[in-house]
Amino acid sequence: MRPVLGIESSCDETASAVLNAEGRVLAEAVLSQEREHAPYGGVVPEIAARAHLAVLPDQVRRVIAHAGLGFDELGGVAASAGPGLIGGLIVGSQLAKGIAIAYGLPFVAVNHLEAHALTARLPGLVEGGVAFPYLLLLVSGGHCQCVAVEGVGQHVRLGSTLDDAVGEAFDKVAKLLGLGWPGGPVLERLAADGDPRRYAFPRPLLGRAGCDFSFSGLKTAVAHEVARQDAGALPVQVAADIAACFQCAVADVLADRATHAMAMMRDGAPDAHVLVVAGGVAANTTIRAALAAVAEQHGFMLVAPPVRLCTDNAVMVAWTGIERLRLGLANELDFAPRPRWPL
Ligand code: KG4
Ligand code: ZN
Repeated sequence: MRPVLGIESSCDETASAVLNAEGRVLAEAVLSQEREHAPYGGVVPEIAARAHLAVLPDQVRRVIAHAGLGFDELGGVAASAGPGLIGGLIVGSQLAKGIAIAYGLPFVAVNHLEAHALTARLPGLVEGGVAFPYLLLLVSGGHCQCVAVEGVGQHVRLGSTLDDAVGEAFDKVAKLLGLGWPGGPVLERLAADGDPRRYAFPRPLLGRAGCDFSFSGLKTAVAHEVARQDAGALPVQVAADIAACFQCAVADVLADRATHAMAMMRDGAPDAHVLVVAGGVAANTTIRAALAAVAEQHGFMLVAPPVRLCTDNAVMVAWTGIERLRLGLANELDFAPRPRWPL
């Protein structure tokens, strides 16, 4: 198979990448729209779509040139076609379809969640590769779920959040503490100077059967603690202690839910032994450490891709394109992007 172009535009990263058939990255680019959305404290869909449109065609041209290729040397074009913000999904998949039509290439409509899931199989990431089936813990700004990944296009959702996604909880708590957006990275830095034992925040669903998640009670507990403080700006040490206690509660919850998910996974697939963590929150060191500890206790190997592959990127989209094209799973050009597209 010839190299495959991947395009990502489902949320607030504009990204393109070209991988050869063996999964080696020939060229890639990621542009975050953080600056455009920061004044609004979150992603504004219309701004996101227009920013993708302004950047993507040139970015794709540059990436192809960087790879030392012409469009006519590609073997296929893959784009995130859902779930996500519909405007951005349309921009990315229309561009991909246009290229596919112009050069007579197969088009792959990629499920963004499957792309996160398949990242672990990128050649070179884990020695010997990651074989199906494995357990995926997807923790991002929009998603929080445990999935048994049984094959390309074969997923069983074991549990998911009943309210907020975990990244969303980080962002909301960061806002309560007067930090910027996106909140996760700033909150993690602040928590480094805090005492994780100062406040006893709840651990929602801890020990409960299954592996669903809930974060709204924890977020409310933080809001109450902030409200109890004297009026005016929070003292830095109080904010740091709250951040540390919140992060610690999240890590405990994720470790507990992952423990249940590993047991559920083993029930269905006794040989399964890999736990993959993906999504922006997987960048958090405390959370990675907590997951590594429970994985080891239960005989699982934790695979945490490097942060640039955990957050939204086009390498995972191109790789999913390759996995699907190898199986002959191209899509028709009338495939309509799907804002909702559960695994
Ligand atoms: O996967 P991602 O880049 O985008 C999607 O949501 O699809 O994830 C972004 C989320 C944001 O909510 C952000 O606050 C969170 O991941 N995040 C973190 C950290 N870095 C990013 N949360 C906790 N700790 C971090 N270091
Ligand atoms: Zn994502």
